[in-house]
Amino acid sequence: MNSLVERAQAVLRANDHGGYTVPSARLYPFQWNWDSGFVALGWATFDEARAWLELESLVGAQWDDGMIPHIVFHKASTGYSPGPEVWGTEGRRPPTSGISQPPVLATVVRRLLEEARDRGLAEAKAEALTPALLSWHRWWRGARDPEGSGLVVIHHPWESGRDNSPDWDAALARVPTTRNRYERRDLALIDADQRPHQHEYDRYLYLVDLFRDLDYDSDRLSRDCPFRVVDVGTNAILHRADLDLIALAEKFGHEVEARELASRAARTRHAFADLWHPEHGLYLSFDRRAGAPIEVPSAAGFLALFGRIPGPDMAATLAETAARWTERTRFALPTMQPDHDLFEPRRYWRGPVWAHFNWLIAEGFAAYGHNAIADRLRVDMRRLIEAGGFFEYYDPRDGTGCGGGEFSWTAATALFWAVS
Ligand code: GLC
Repeated sequence: MNSLVERAQAVLRANDHGGYTVPSARLYPFQWNWDSGFVALGWATFDEARAWLELESLVGAQWDDGMIPHIVFHKASTGYSPGPEVWGTEGRRPPTSGISQPPVLATVVRRLLEEARDRGLAEAKAEALTPALLSWHRWWRGARDPEGSGLVVIHHPWESGRDNSPDWDAALARVPTTRNRYERRDLALIDADQRPHQHEYDRYLYLVDLFRDLDYDSDRLSRDCPFRVVDVGTNAILHRADLDLIALAEKFGHEVEARELASRAARTRHAFADLWHPEHGLYLSFDRRAGAPIEVPSAAGFLALFGRIPGPDMAATLAETAARWTERTRFALPTMQPDHDLFEPRRYWRGPVWAHFNWLIAEGFAAYGHNAIADRLRVDMRRLIEAGGFFEYYDPRDGTGCGGGEFSWTAATALFWAVS
């Protein structure tokens, strides 16, 4: 067996806490929502039962209103902040955060089902998970798009999965800073110049305090949350997941929900037209509080392809945009336009290359027949992993591995895509 494959499997095994996989042993010692989706695809390459278990552990933490949280604190740990006491969820079993993350799960379930070697197991597991997915997607529509615009808002940068992306700078600057004292454990483990700034963290924590104080009531949050942003990435992923969930709903006898999702999907595709910016050759996010587009060219705009949203002309324009970006860095694809003032090649979501994100973008380009760019992303990811190991992310200029090492989603993405 290819030794990279063996090493990647060993990373997942080492990060396996019995039913769920931590993203990184010390930096992120719990279960994270979208990480688990990618991790399940990785497990499925050598242990399908374990892949299903990963998803079940996450979905088991679903709230009554349908929300599937971004963190599940299965076991107590002092090594992470903000923990359940800050989220005000200590009474829940299991305790969780109070926000969500990009909804990749329905797409993952459909793929696991379609590629299953153990068909009986896959049918049973997918059928059992489908009602929870339907209720999660209903939560997105109801709680995060009460106007029925076709696009959902996020209430926290962490919900985008791209914590400190330049996309959020202006909207976050309008959020007050927390008055409560808190500790940042991340800085004890990772260089400060690879992590979000303090002024961002003070606002991240203000939002958590607000959600807790408003009891996570979605009507009050819609009215009072100062951060309400249409993240192009979350919306593209949700639209793709809606399409995959339609297939699951039809297969498992949820016809009414399948029709509801189909009409929602049509509305989302229509609404995406407003996020297209020909001058950037890219889809951009939108700030609902400011009532204005977020004029920041980040790689999330390419996820529309994963969402199957653009027509062929726009897909071709996106391929040209991506090709321009790749001329400027040694490794593709940086998460931010690399000749932009806000590009920072080592600071987390402000420029680096991430394995799972490269897959999402490459999958989209391949679906539209833009194979050269899709292959480039895969080859570059493989080179980064071969040279540096399974880092959280990489510097697109010289390939330096950054953030946490032995990182689960990088190992998983290697298994189901980059080195397989
Ligand atoms: C960071 C990332 C987020 C990820 C989490 C665990 O918060 O920004 O996308 O889910 O770490 O890996």
